[in-house]
Amino acid sequence: MQFNNEERQAQDKRLADNLSRIKYKLVVISGKGGVGKTTVSVNLAYELSTRGYKVGILDADIHGPNVVKMLGMDGVQLYGDGQLIQPAEINKNLRAVSVAMLSDDPDKPIIWRGPLKTGIIKQFLSDVSWGDLDFLVIDSPPGTGDEPLSVCQLIKGLDGAIIVTTPQEVAILDSRKSVQFAKELNVPVVGIIENMSGFKCPFCGHEIDIFGKGGGEKAAKDLNVNFLGRLPLEPDIVKFSDEGKPYIHYSRDTETAKKMVDIVDKIEKWLEEKK
Ligand SMILES: Nc1ncnc2c1ncn2[C@@H]1O[C@H](COP(=O)(O)OP(=O)(O)OP(=O)(O)O)[C@@H](O)[C@H]1O
Ligand SMILES: [Mg+2]
Repeated sequence: MQFNNEERQAQDKRLADNLSRIKYKLVVISGKGGVGKTTVSVNLAYELSTRGYKVGILDADIHGPNVVKMLGMDGVQLYGDGQLIQPAEINKNLRAVSVAMLSDDPDKPIIWRGPLKTGIIKQFLSDVSWGDLDFLVIDSPPGTGDEPLSVCQLIKGLDGAIIVTTPQEVAILDSRKSVQFAKELNVPVVGIIENMSGFKCPFCGHEIDIFGKGGGEKAAKDLNVNFLGRLPLEPDIVKFSDEGKPYIHYSRDTETAKKMVDIVDKIEKWLEEKK
């Protein structure tokens, strides 16, 4: 979409107005793909919404938008009133927006270059009727490309970046880049989450460190950022994610869900202390 100057100024104003009504804006990033960013984003947003906060989740992963699936919103389409896009309602406190809600064919890939991606992310921030929110959680694709860059540049006063990694060296190496990326863009780092860290055999209880252990914690220490916690490999996370049920809520009494809750507590505390 081509905007003239006047339209661009009007959109910038809508962007600023929208952002001024959102108390905390958080982006979830990682260096490597498939480490659990969407899982973290969805569970974090859902948990905050059940604590009574008004929460938005923005899926900034244009090519692999999984937020919709993990929230059980398959087939949901966004609609607009001619001016603003209405976000999808997940529960009374949680709203979501994703490119997956713009297409009625889930198999159709989005084949877009940088400017189009930046354009849609800007529209999701400026032209969605988010209303008053306590939290906006933004899920990113892996790496430090167009999408996280657009998010960090468009949101003045982004409150923090949550970095997800798995414990093995190749993931840690990439997560160090994520920390550097956030620092260069002046986005405070909330901390690192070490996901898929250890697996407890359901039959004998023996723990196996499939991807190793402690790498995320060590990276946090080396880079002088918070360590938010460790989540084990848990087959039920896959099952619940595929069923569109946030694990933290639907598997509340498990040890792993309690670890997720601890991480959410730490993020909340970090934000409160920052303000
Ligand atoms: N702790 C965990 N234990 C088991 N499975 C997990 C765990 N965390 C995430 N998963 C599963 O791993 C897969 C990848 O997770 P997810 O999609 O959240 O990663 P991602 O970082 O968002 O990936 P991408 O880089 O493609 O966006 C999903 O099937 C998810 O259910
Ligand atoms: Mg993802």
